[in-house]
Amino acid sequence: MTNRGNFSGRLGFILAAAGSAVGLGNIWRFPYLAGQNGGAAFLLIYLLCIFLLCFPVMVGEIAIGRKVGSDAYGSYYKLGGRSWGFLGLFGILAGIFILSFYNVVAGWAFGYFLEISFGDLLNHPDFGGFFGAYVNDISDNLWFSLGFMVFTALIVSQGVQKGIEAANKIMMPSLYLILIGLIIYSLTLPNAMAGVKFYLIPELSEIKAQTVFDALRQAFFSLSLGMGALITYGSYVKKDQNVVSSAAVISIADTSVAFFSGLMIFPLVFSAGQSPTEGPPLVFMILPQIFHDMGPIIGRVVGGSFFLLLCFAALTSTVSLLEVPAAYLVDQKKLPRKGVVWGLALLIFIIGLPSMVSQGMVPFLNKLPFYQGRDFLTFVSDMCDISLTIGGGLMCVFITYKWKIENMNEELSLGNDTYMGSILQKYINFTIQYVCPLLLGILSILVIIDKFFGIDKVFG
Ligand code: PHE
Repeated sequence: MTNRGNFSGRLGFILAAAGSAVGLGNIWRFPYLAGQNGGAAFLLIYLLCIFLLCFPVMVGEIAIGRKVGSDAYGSYYKLGGRSWGFLGLFGILAGIFILSFYNVVAGWAFGYFLEISFGDLLNHPDFGGFFGAYVNDISDNLWFSLGFMVFTALIVSQGVQKGIEAANKIMMPSLYLILIGLIIYSLTLPNAMAGVKFYLIPELSEIKAQTVFDALRQAFFSLSLGMGALITYGSYVKKDQNVVSSAAVISIADTSVAFFSGLMIFPLVFSAGQSPTEGPPLVFMILPQIFHDMGPIIGRVVGGSFFLLLCFAALTSTVSLLEVPAAYLVDQKKLPRKGVVWGLALLIFIIGLPSMVSQGMVPFLNKLPFYQGRDFLTFVSDMCDISLTIGGGLMCVFITYKWKIENMNEELSLGNDTYMGSILQKYINFTIQYVCPLLLGILSILVIIDKFFGIDKVFG
């Protein structure tokens, strides 16, 4: 086999996989979904999803990747034949579409970082208006998201160890440091405790079908599951490493960043007397107002740090998203990595253009008639979310009926002497065989109904 590269060791893999998981999903999407779904009630369901559904799926994905040592398509193909190979292709395609819109939002974060740190965004009289104008400024959008894609491609083109692992080893610790600094600051603000209460004391009556749907798709998205990112990263893991404990550390790292982002944002929002239910613009419209109120210097430093944090988080995720199709072309088509990476980056940037102009520039894309009048970026993002839960559910079916659970267990016991016979083994086996396929199947169908028709209208 040609040398595909691998992670230097346990830490390199864990940081890279946690880097993939920690992203805009944690810092931008998790807080606004929690804000819209009752705060603590959402957090509770979210944690349940991670524990019951996501952790076992993550273990399964990494096991498949490491077993075969190939890309998402190659791994399914080798263990399950051509028809299962399609599941890998489906994931690779999902990754391409996720990156296409993700890069647009990452471009906004990058632009905000520059405008707050070095420009005069914070002097603007109306942040809602600013954001509305900003996402409709085609030249800013083009440059910033192109810039972001170039950073991503630069890292991925350097390969697994020199590119992906090295970048994560710098960015992930910096991200934690910035986050901790921001939490300490926000907890010391007046009325911060109202935010903490909203976030930590659940109001069980707040739990609705929507809460469960949002928590589930968010958990899958946040842990980068269901589309082959962890199969691909798993394929670079050496056989003497403990997959189960690595998966546990990755899940905890990701969940803690989401948790801490909430702990940073809700005190800020409540202490400024703002509403947490703002939705996607929460981070872009509400936070700048708060940074503005901190005064010109502190606002610049705190606000700039926040958006830098968002950029780091996004970059370690875009890197993993680009690696999935890149690994496919390198492994299956034997194409050179550098050319593949730059070609894909350009292609995905172009696929992202309709999402970029869907925030108002092109009225049709802004209000899709077949999608309850929502915009194209939301459409692509929702479809990708659904494909993740379906992909995760099918992976469990694949392990149960095709690859067989005993073979997975055998792979998992490499580098983990105590795995066989442990409670953890029983838990993982039970959830992968029964709980995940069933729950993921039912919930994916309900989410599709909800997205296209509105669940209340159908069952209400
Ligand atoms: N997990 C990333 C986030 O939370 C997004 C992502 C999804 C990355 C799927 C890779 C694969 O932002």
